[in-house]
Amino acid sequence: MKILSVVGARPQFVKLAPIAAECAARGVEHVIVHTGQHYDPMLSDVFFTDLGIPDPDVHLGVGSGSHGQQTGAMLAAMDEVITAHRPDWVLVYGDTNSTLAGALSAVKLHVPIAHLEAGLRSFNRRMPEEHNRVLTDHAADLLLAPTQVAVDHLTAEGLGERAVLVGDVMIDVLHRVRDELVDAGAVLSELGMRPRTYSVATIHRAESTDDPAVLSAIVKGLQQVDHPVVLLAHPRLRARAAEHGLDLDGGSLTTRDPLPYPALVAAVSNARGVITDSGGLQKEAFALRTPCTTVRTETEWVETVELGWNMLVDPGDAAALREAASRPAPEPTDAAPYGDGHAASAVLDALSGGAAAGRVGG
Ligand code: UD1
Repeated sequence: MKILSVVGARPQFVKLAPIAAECAARGVEHVIVHTGQHYDPMLSDVFFTDLGIPDPDVHLGVGSGSHGQQTGAMLAAMDEVITAHRPDWVLVYGDTNSTLAGALSAVKLHVPIAHLEAGLRSFNRRMPEEHNRVLTDHAADLLLAPTQVAVDHLTAEGLGERAVLVGDVMIDVLHRVRDELVDAGAVLSELGMRPRTYSVATIHRAESTDDPAVLSAIVKGLQQVDHPVVLLAHPRLRARAAEHGLDLDGGSLTTRDPLPYPALVAAVSNARGVITDSGGLQKEAFALRTPCTTVRTETEWVETVELGWNMLVDPGDAAALREAASRPAPEPTDAAPYGDGHAASAVLDALSGGAAAGRVGG
């Protein structure tokens, strides 16, 4: 069996790590294609190095652009790559423009597609991620769902026969990194923080950053939290804040560059809270039992909210953000809605079964 993985953005490298390791352990041929959507070393190279991912076999070097330009450039480049490698599966991850480009190229070349992290829905059709995940799910032959809620969404859209519940590969990585010896003391002293006294914040989504009034309310809320907030600033956030003439640092808020993954895990597990608009960080906070405040009106990871460890706040409401981020920790829980840290093995099992059967479902 030959699998061709298409990745391009930071969270996809995290998801790729356990898949690459499982392929290596099973002797499965694995071709890694990096679209180049993320190109800053701190958003790309450090993940390959820290998580032990082999260097990409192909790098498309596409870079930034409007959605159409970026997705179109990747799509054009992918045709040649898929034709040259003739994989049994094209494996796409999550919900970025790289995901959609990989899926579109494969479906038109009649190469089976597996979508990792299938079935997530925000039901917010203004999010580029929502377009990407809905279109990718409907193009794919095998839908690798992280949660039962995701399977239910796929079933409701008539895609249930192609769906397999595999758990969440981000928990695989998190367990591995948590169990390795990360020097948390060094990370905290680098941040200038003591354990359980600060919150870690990340804000990067277009819905949070592109409207000056919304970004200004988020920054105001973060600056007014009743304890120190360390904002790990994505380049998009810095660029938009500069365009809007907004100072990020002030009050409780200080900014830093994004952290490598092991340092992020150390920072979150020692924090008293997380404040974010990221999907992955909501789950990571839950898995590390750090209370999360999500600066969005909806989430794909509803389990974190239902279990009391995540609270949604309207991005335009600075007072709600400040209050939610200052709340005490909830009741402990031992629920594990994202699996037991062996999702990559379930993914490879599903791909092997599908490859043996020729084509899955539908
Ligand atoms: C993308 C994904 C988003 C994911 C996020 C993870 C889409 C539609 N969005 O958002 O789902 O959660 O990645 O981080 O695919 N930039 C740099 N250096 C880089 C990459 C980007 O400076 O290496 C800046 C550029 O100004 C660029 C902007 O960030 O225009 C946005 O980058 P882009 O890849 O379009 O989307 P993200 O916001 O990173």
